[in-house]
Amino acid sequence: MQTVTTLAELRLALERLPGPVGFVPTMGYLHAGHVSLAERARKECASVVASIFVNPTQFGPNEDLAKYPRDLPRDLALLEAAGVDLVWTPTPEVVYPPGFQTWVTVEGLTSPLEGAQRPGHFCGVTTVVAKLFNAVGPQKAYFGQKDAQQAAVIRRMTKDLDFPIEIVVCPTVRAADGLAMSSRNTYLNPEERQAATVLFRSLTAAKAAYETGERDAERLRQIMRDAINAEPLVRLQYVSCADYDTLEELTQVTGKSLLSMAVFVGKTRLIDNFVIGE
Ligand code: PAJ
Repeated sequence: MQTVTTLAELRLALERLPGPVGFVPTMGYLHAGHVSLAERARKECASVVASIFVNPTQFGPNEDLAKYPRDLPRDLALLEAAGVDLVWTPTPEVVYPPGFQTWVTVEGLTSPLEGAQRPGHFCGVTTVVAKLFNAVGPQKAYFGQKDAQQAAVIRRMTKDLDFPIEIVVCPTVRAADGLAMSSRNTYLNPEERQAATVLFRSLTAAKAAYETGERDAERLRQIMRDAINAEPLVRLQYVSCADYDTLEELTQVTGKSLLSMAVFVGKTRLIDNFVIGE
């Protein structure tokens, strides 16, 4: 496995890799969720490229950019074990050189949910992912269902900007108790870690109600709210029962839909989602 930093090094290394190339963009501090994306790419592509870049432009002023966890040696070992061929670890100066002033914005889809709570977040995500796509030029790119809105926004951007890249969305990897793997789980103390299972429990309760015939979207949202409000260490930010494609809030569940939420467990913000009606 080769590791490169500059664009020139990346281009040279890419010349030697046979296609099709699968690409796994990450912000590092890798866990089993990230590894599952790399392993899927390994199965489906001749070469696998991963990137590790904590993208400053997708963090809000009061978010965790400065304290975002980092462990490059451990990340590289995990990627090597997953069979990754090339890792790109650009510096902020490589991605955003002095004078940088070009942004990629997806409208509509970025308005609700995460977009409503984190202004500017998706503009940072789409700008960096467009730049990573241009630099790596993969045939396939791998994203996690854990960040459902991000996957939808990237899919939209890829289509709208004619990137010749297939977007592959992989299932959410969870701990044994259901908590979705996240680099941010590392911020949780033991009591918070226990309380954080409420995301999975509330989604499971709403899904069970759906499966026994509940189609009223507000009742499904209420089931999730009730479960979360019963957990004293957890503060609800939003719950949603939305159309899977448009992300618009539903009154009735009639087709493929997304149950999703964001909560604070102490100071740590966590998100999770289930797809229903597939
Ligand atoms: P990061 O949070 O590091 O996540 C990298 C990829 O791993 C994303 O596609 C995310 O959805 C996926 N992922 C995270 N947790 C997962 C889990 N438990 N199961 C499956 N997949 C999971 O998302 C980002 O970085 C950034 O926004 C990025 C796309 C790299 C742009 O900066």
